[in-house]
Parts: sequence; C-alpha cells; structure tokens
Amino acid sequence: AIERTFSIIKPDAVAKNVIGEIYSRFEKNDLKIVAAKMLHLTKEQAEGFYAEHSERGFFNDLVAFMISGPVIMQVLEGENAVLKHREIMGATNPKEAAAGTIRADFASSIDENAVHGSDAVETAQREIAYFFSDNEICARTR
Ligand code: CMP
Repeated sequence: AIERTFSIIKPDAVAKNVIGEIYSRFEKNDLKIVAAKMLHLTKEQAEGFYAEHSERGFFNDLVAFMISGPVIMQVLEGENAVLKHREIMGATNPKEAAAGTIRADFASSIDENAVHGSDAVETAQREIAYFFSDNEICARTR
C-alpha cells in the first residue's frame, strides 16, 4: 500500500553537509518528498516529540543533541514507505547497521545517528501531525 512516513535528518548529518546524499537515497528508493522544512528545534519541541522515551536514561542527552543544531524534517510517500525507509536507514546503532545504509555511511554513534524514521504507520501519522499541518503536505499529482 502507499504509505507516508516521517523522517528527520538530525543535527549531526546537517552539520556533515550530507542532506543531499540522504535525499538522494530516498529518491533512488522511490520515496517521494511530499513535505519538508528546516528548523532548529526548541527544547519543548524535542521533549514533546520524544515523549515516549522520557523515562529512558538517554532522554536528556537525546534532547540536548536534537537541539544542538538545525534539522531537516520531511514526509516521505511511497509503496511500503515505513518499512522501506527503516531498511534504508539501517539499525538505530550504526555499529549494527547493514553496509550501504544511511546510518552505516553517515552516523557515528547510537546517540548521533544521522536520521530518525517512524516505526509504524500509526506512529508516522502522529509524528507527521506533530510538525506538519495538512496544508503543508503536497499531493504529487505529476
Ligand atoms: P530515534 O529513531 O531518533 O529515536 C530515539 C533515539 O534515541 C534513537 O533514534 C537514538 O538516536 C537515541 N538513543 C540513544 N540511546 C538509545 C538506546 N539505548 N536505544 C534506543 N535509542 C537510543
């Protein structure tokens, strides 16, 4: 089925100047960008987005990292988009990520792991709505 998923290019990857390299991987895998924005998250935005992790030991470091510089966030659309995106990202820990995945190629640690992607269609809907209003998502009619 055609799905939408939510993607963040994190501050480490923006700082490494590999936004285009990562976008290219989306395109080569038939994931279409249907919404995009660059912003420097506030602490409140980062805490809210990652609220499900608020009891985890890594939460404060995660929030500090996510507000350490600008991010690019996008909605990706395509066949089986959620799983396809997770496959091209690779494992959360870049040491475990398969060769040729975004995290294997661009991430340095489990904390600074270059990208985020939704883990399920329901999560994607919530994450997209957290950052994008409906009128910021563009139908790709050609
Ligand atoms: P992300 O997909 O953005 O979701 C939560 C982030 O927390 C995750 O990527 C990692 O960058 C970070 N993180 C740090 N330590 C861990 C851990 N032990 N397990 C899962 N995520 C972690």
